Amino acid sequence: MNKAEFDQFAKEYQALHATNIRASGETPDFFAEYKIVDLAKEIKKNFHVDSIKILDFGSGVGNSVPYFSKHIEAVDLTCVDVSDASLSIAQTRHPDLAKYVVFDGKTLPFADESFSVVFTACVFHHIPASEHISLFKEIYRVLNKDGVLVVFEHNPLNPLTVRAVNTCEFDQNAVLISAGKLKRRLALAGFNNIQCVYRIFFPRFLKMFRVFEPLLRWLPVGAQYYVSGKK
Ligand SMILES: C[S@@+](CC[C@H](N)C(=O)[O-])C[C@H]1O[C@@H](n2cnc3c(N)ncnc32)[C@H](O)[C@@H]1O
Repeated sequence: MNKAEFDQFAKEYQALHATNIRASGETPDFFAEYKIVDLAKEIKKNFHVDSIKILDFGSGVGNSVPYFSKHIEAVDLTCVDVSDASLSIAQTRHPDLAKYVVFDGKTLPFADESFSVVFTACVFHHIPASEHISLFKEIYRVLNKDGVLVVFEHNPLNPLTVRAVNTCEFDQNAVLISAGKLKRRLALAGFNNIQCVYRIFFPRFLKMFRVFEPLLRWLPVGAQYYVSGKK
């Protein structure tokens, strides 16, 4: 993507995002927090360690940042993004909760095996498909052995998600990615044990049915999904 694309939306990102998801009845905080709750469960399944180094790849204005320390014990968080303007807003909002690092979009400025977990939310649909495998290889490089990548994305099979993306100013250049394609790209980058979980089946006014979501995780109609892979 054009590096400046999110620089121009950084200041109004939060307001645009809130307007865009209004049909769901939920807030940006809801969408940010549920992902980290899921991530915390993946971490519990995969690691038995006292502290954990996590990279938030494409962290934007830092919407996920407060939820890492809320839901994951002893987290050491680094946020990386191509948008300077977004990162400086994130740093102003949460100065003590993470390190903030600008990225050239190609080579992550970290040594091999620097992180146990890489988390990325709603980033890859802003990156040309031709760059996905090389970026996943780059993420693979900075993960420790047995490290885990968790990629959250919008589901192109959900009509409400597609409508929200088609009417969102900062999604004008977005190309939604099916879970199947994303899984294949992770495999081509070297990841193993690749899994997919579909999420968010009910808007807020039907939230009493959310207790059934754990039974629906295989059903490819959730508004979002995540794919995870292991190094
Ligand atoms: C829709 S925002 C999502 C921000 C954040 N992950 C969240 O969930 O709130 C997409 C972010 O991806 C970033 N981005 C786009 N291309 C990128 C790349 N090649 N490497 C890292 N970040 C990128 C953008 O600058 C923007 O901050």
